[in-house]
Amino acid sequence: MPNWNQARVELKGSEFASLGRLIKERAGIDLKPGKETLVQARLARRLRALELGSFAEYLDVLNGEGDGAELTLLLDAITTNVTSFFRQPRHFTYLREEFLAEVKACAKGRLRIWSAACSTGEEPYSIGIHLREGLSDLDQWNVRILATDLSTEALATAQAGVYPLARLDDVPAEFKRRYFSSVGRIGGAAGDGGSVCVAPAVQSLVTFARLNLMESWPMAGPFDAIFCRNVWRVVEKCRPRSPVGRGDHRCHGCGRAEGWRSARARQ
Ligand SMILES: C[S@@+](CC[C@H](N)C(=O)[O-])C[C@H]1O[C@@H](n2cnc3c(N)ncnc32)[C@H](O)[C@@H]1O
Repeated sequence: MPNWNQARVELKGSEFASLGRLIKERAGIDLKPGKETLVQARLARRLRALELGSFAEYLDVLNGEGDGAELTLLLDAITTNVTSFFRQPRHFTYLREEFLAEVKACAKGRLRIWSAACSTGEEPYSIGIHLREGLSDLDQWNVRILATDLSTEALATAQAGVYPLARLDDVPAEFKRRYFSSVGRIGGAAGDGGSVCVAPAVQSLVTFARLNLMESWPMAGPFDAIFCRNVWRVVEKCRPRSPVGRGDHRCHGCGRAEGWRSARARQ
């Protein structure tokens, strides 16, 4: 019987290829050659949890399951969730200076924004902060930010809205003061002294949901803006269902720039 705590299970080339095919087909993510060690390390926890002694057995579990529960955990382990508040600031400059200016001019009173691969939530919360800053009568608006992602682990963090204080290093001081509150200290050697919680006034604008962009999209739309950043390779694979391909999620009103294309163009 394998010692699951100590044994490092070998990932054979053929097993890596099979995992790669499955992940590409189901999530659109490419596992490039050279990522074997990374995949082996990230999936070691799943093999230990299932008490499996080989990746061949793990593939049997994935191929034999009916409900997709293990596939969800596999994709949680494989996805790269790197993000930050106000990442790629030029997108937020555009949001503030062009998009919101047009929204205000329309005075439509309704606004729908989709953060299509929101990871741990920093992107939709950054959008929410700009809406609070840019629309002084926001509470009179019918506003929703839909934030979706494939990773259930990332979404759990997003939903909680609690982050280590260090994640706010690049956030302007006045935003820190207005939109975050301290919620105690993080212990241990890696602790950086505290954690912060996103203000309810911003959290209340955002609805989180799991959505695999490779599967069908249940939202009715249309959206006024779509943030689809740093997940473009996946989106290319589902282009026929994308806002560009379908044409029914195009931004509308007042000749506003199309969020999808504009965000993409500025990457
Ligand atoms: C690098 S992060 C980008 C986060 C954020 N958009 C940003 O730019 O900071 C990529 C995100 O895409 C998500 N993702 C990857 N494949 C996906 C798919 N098929 N459907 C939905 N989300 C996916 C990952 O879980 C991850 O959170």
